[in-house]
Amino acid sequence: MVSVPGGWDSRESEGGRADVQRPRVARRVLAGAVVAVVAAGVSSALAENGAGGTLHPVPSMFAPVSSPAESIRELSFLVAAISAGIFLTVSGVLFWCVWRYRQQPGDDREPPQVYGSNPIEWAWTIVPVLIVLVLFLATARTINELQASEVPENALNVTIVGHQWWWEIRYPDLGVVTANELHLPVSSDAAKRPTYLTLESQDVIHSFWIPQLAGKTDVVPNRRNLMWVEPTVTGTFLGQCAEYCGTQHAKMLLRVIVHEPADFESWAASQKGASADAAAAGVDPAIAAAGRAVFERTACINCHTLDGTNADGRFGPDLSRLMSRTTIGAGAALNTPQNLRAWVDDPHQFKPGVLMPAMKLDDAELEQLTAFLLTLR
Ligand code: CUA
Repeated sequence: MVSVPGGWDSRESEGGRADVQRPRVARRVLAGAVVAVVAAGVSSALAENGAGGTLHPVPSMFAPVSSPAESIRELSFLVAAISAGIFLTVSGVLFWCVWRYRQQPGDDREPPQVYGSNPIEWAWTIVPVLIVLVLFLATARTINELQASEVPENALNVTIVGHQWWWEIRYPDLGVVTANELHLPVSSDAAKRPTYLTLESQDVIHSFWIPQLAGKTDVVPNRRNLMWVEPTVTGTFLGQCAEYCGTQHAKMLLRVIVHEPADFESWAASQKGASADAAAAGVDPAIAAAGRAVFERTACINCHTLDGTNADGRFGPDLSRLMSRTTIGAGAALNTPQNLRAWVDDPHQFKPGVLMPAMKLDDAELEQLTAFLLTLR
C-alpha cells in the first residue's frame, strides 16, 4: 500500500476514468440525434428538387459519396467501436460489482478500503494512455492523408465566402459567381476530377459542412482554409453552416448539385454574361422593363450584383441567373414566383433577422420587380 500524492486515491481515479470515457459515446449518440433532427427539418422544407437530379435528402456522414467523407466514416467507426468497448467494459464491471457486493442481510461490516495499489494505479494510467494514443495516431493518419493529397492539374477550384447568412460561391477559373448552390462535376475512376475549395469569411466564423462529401471546415475571417471534395455520385446533396454565426445560422443552408461532366460544362456556360429573358419567363416584357427600372433606382443595387446592370454590391448574393437556383434566402424558401414576391416585400417573414430590409414597394412596383427577377434565367 503506497499513498499517492495529490489525493489521487483509487475511488477518484475510478470515477475520473469513467467520466472521461463515457462522453465520447454520448457525443456520438447526440450527434446522430442532431443529424436526424436536422435531416428531418431540411428534407421536409426542401423536398422538391427540380433540375438538381436525385435529391439525397438525409445529409448523413454515414452515407459518404466522396473520398474525404469515406475516410472520416472509417475513422468514426474505429472511434465508436473503441468507445463502445470502453463503455461496455466500465458499465459491465460497475453493474457486476453493485450486484456481487450488495449488502447482505445482517452483515454490517465495512468493506476493505483499498488506497494506492501500485499495480492498479499503473493499469488505469497506462491503458487509457494507450487508448488515447491509438485514437490520436488513427486520427492523425486520416488528417494527414486528406491534407497531403496533391492538387491534380484538372482540379476544379472554387472559392466559398461565408456571409451572415448565406454562401457566396465563386469559380475563378470559369468566371462564374453564384450563391448557396454549389455545382460540381462528378468524379469517376475513368475521369477523376476533385474540387478544391478555398473558404473565406466576410464577417464572423462559419463552418462549411456537407456531411456526405467531407468533414466540417471552419470559415474564419482574415484566413483562407482549404478543403477538397470528390463526389462519385450525381444528384443534390444537402449541407449547412455548422458553427453558430448569429440569428439565422439555422437558415444558412447549402445545396451541392453534382453533375455528369458534360452537364457541368453546360451549367457553367449557362452562368455567364447578362441574362434577362422575358419570353422564356413568360412575363410581359414591358412589365419586366419597368421592374428593371425599379431595381436600378432602389437600394437593391447597393447590396446585390447583377450582370448587365449598374448593380455591383457585394453584401448580398449575386442575382445573375437567380431563377436557375432552387431556393432563395440560403434555403429559407423554394424559389417560386409567389415566394420571390413575398421575399422582396418582406424577407423577414421567411428569415427573421435577415440583413436585407423590407423594400417598402407598392403593389405595382412589387409586381414589376418580381417580373424582372423572373427573367433572370
Ligand atoms: Cu454561418 Cu452558422
